[in-house]
Amino acid sequence: KPHTIGRMTQEFKLLGDALFAYKGAVFPVSDQHELTPEYIDSLEHFKIKDSDVFLFTFPKSGTVWTQRIVTLLYEEDFPVSVDQNPFLCMPWLELLRKGYDYTIRPSPRLFCSHLQEHLVPRGLQEKKAKVIYVYRNPKDVMVSGFHFSQFKFLTEKYKDIDDVVDAFLSGRCVGGNWFDHVQGWYHNKDKYNILFLSYEEIIKDLRSVVLKIAEFVGKNLSCAAIDKIVEKVTFKKMKVDYDMSHFSPVKQTVIYLRKGTIGDWKNAFTVAQSERIDKVFQERMKDFPLPFIWDIS
Ligand code: A3P
Repeated sequence: KPHTIGRMTQEFKLLGDALFAYKGAVFPVSDQHELTPEYIDSLEHFKIKDSDVFLFTFPKSGTVWTQRIVTLLYEEDFPVSVDQNPFLCMPWLELLRKGYDYTIRPSPRLFCSHLQEHLVPRGLQEKKAKVIYVYRNPKDVMVSGFHFSQFKFLTEKYKDIDDVVDAFLSGRCVGGNWFDHVQGWYHNKDKYNILFLSYEEIIKDLRSVVLKIAEFVGKNLSCAAIDKIVEKVTFKKMKVDYDMSHFSPVKQTVIYLRKGTIGDWKNAFTVAQSERIDKVFQERMKDFPLPFIWDIS
């Protein structure tokens, strides 16, 4: 369906039915969104306001979790009608819903995104708006991605673990190549007012991370208010809340909360699959300065 992803004059490449590649990144083909090469191009000039908060992630790295934390920190800023639905309060920038215009959202504006660093609004480099980047052990990302793909929602469906590993290592998945994503954001981090977080550290000490994010976005909340947010963003509580009817406009919410653990890859990969990923990881990340602490006991 090429018409769904913009004019044919743009240089994009369809990857099967569900994805298209553009400017070194990969996006879902979607009839419900205005996700076209033209729209992606326009985002470079998306006007940034000082009060904006952007969350960037590679898919399956804890986006919805961090989105929930940020929207709860901003809860008082939203009208009652939307305050319960983080998907509406903090939409995905590139997944522009048909009929919406994100440039006219009232401030403070919150956005999620899976964009790689080279495609994001340049205005973020004025360093006033806030940027949060969350990354996760790529092996857990792959396993999470495999299960998520079974819903065939904004992605292709992987047949088995080999299939997801192939797709991931060749960058044929939403977000593009994981190594490019993390490297691009990390190496350019000094251009942004950015908070780097790992999924693993959020698991390890949820309260500290909620406090860290609150401080970063300038929300000075009481201990009791922070405690309330922490309670609302545990895996168990989010699972219940996201099953509830007030999130029903986005039925797929349930699929974002699967297991919520560290190291599920150990249940999914064979030794050979794991070693295959290790090899590429060691090669691609050998000069990377950030310590990766995946296994937290
Ligand atoms: P699993 O599939 O491993 O369970 P994203 O939002 O980027 O798509 O990431 C989804 C992953 O984040 C899923 O991982 C999901 O369970 C996990 N997640 C979401 N909310 C969470 C929470 N409150 N606590 C722990 N993990 C959470």
